[in-house]
Amino acid sequence: MIRKFACWGLVMAALGLVAPSEAQTIKIGALLPMTGPQQSTGVQIDAAIRLYIAQHGDSVAGKKVQVIVKDDAAVADASKRLAQEMIVKDKVNFLVGFGVTPTAFAVSPLATEAKIPQIVMVAGTSSITERSPYVVRTSFTLAQSAVIMADWALKNGVKNVVSMVSDFAPGIDAENFFKGEFLKGGGKIAEFIRVPLANPDFAPFLQRARDDKPDAVYIFVPAGQGASFVRQFLERGLDKAGIRIIGPGDVTDDDVLNGMGDPVIGTVTAHIYSAYHPSALNKNYVAAIAKANNNMRANFISVGGYDGMHLIYEALKKTGGNTNGDALIAAMKGMAWESPRGPISIDPETRDIVQNVYMRRVEKRDGELYNEEFETFPAVKDPGKVKR
Ligand code: PHB
Repeated sequence: MIRKFACWGLVMAALGLVAPSEAQTIKIGALLPMTGPQQSTGVQIDAAIRLYIAQHGDSVAGKKVQVIVKDDAAVADASKRLAQEMIVKDKVNFLVGFGVTPTAFAVSPLATEAKIPQIVMVAGTSSITERSPYVVRTSFTLAQSAVIMADWALKNGVKNVVSMVSDFAPGIDAENFFKGEFLKGGGKIAEFIRVPLANPDFAPFLQRARDDKPDAVYIFVPAGQGASFVRQFLERGLDKAGIRIIGPGDVTDDDVLNGMGDPVIGTVTAHIYSAYHPSALNKNYVAAIAKANNNMRANFISVGGYDGMHLIYEALKKTGGNTNGDALIAAMKGMAWESPRGPISIDPETRDIVQNVYMRRVEKRDGELYNEEFETFPAVKDPGKVKR
């Protein structure tokens, strides 16, 4: 009997009436920096993807889910080559990850050509979603936090700042969106400093910033660089000189916040996620990530990965397992759900994420440092999509 069925299956497959078993598998190609300076990003996303599958099962809409992780070390050329390989050889149905903007940019023409959804789980430059109709973002944009940070600063006695950003696309967005709002509200920016992305030495720039005697340094560094920036800020005594740190919350990254020590208590940033976010869903999320990963603390990077997986699973449920790229993108548009960060949705017009932005202050709670949220700006769309 069994043999009969097996034979029948082969005949059907040969006739093209039954898809080969390959087609019963959903393949997700993840391009992540698992080595190099952005390694912590790859580790957080990988942990979040694994947790999502552990919690929701390794099949959806009747099909098995397989994740293929490739290390692009955050290098655009590597990402492009590996994406090409995964499209042609592995026949992936989704390309996900993208730990830095240049890798997202490098892969978007391939997503367009192959009509494969490109789920951006990290990179935060506004224009990424405009690079391909197959891009959907589950991370954030720098503009979302920068504008809100500028408003808060103006209302809270920060009138004169030095702007210091990592010299690549998201840094330029962080600078521009802060600048637009801050100058409009009467603030002054003494200097615009752009720090090289690779192996940054902040010391000479911090010395310059100190000489400007600002109320605050407005800083954007990508995940992975916050601890080294803060160490050099403190070593140069800028805190003792009464200069504050403000910026998007990448700098007080939950992953490394405890290591920064008590001098960062009181630092105010604007951001989309805190490990201290007081929802039941988040408490479970933080505990589960810690448990499965040697006490690692979930950060704003990881939630982009977790939510990206949710987006994929729910889109597949909606299409009944159909992996046609256009059908999947249509299913993703307008989708709304509760993330560990709070309520989020995918803007049907732009395919970008709509989410709360929180004002947070570093506090010590139960002997650990956390970004404690004290004000919520609900359902913020990417200001980068509004015509300027
Ligand atoms: C980016 O490359 O777009 C990027 C990377 C890390 C961040 C923010 C933005 O923390």
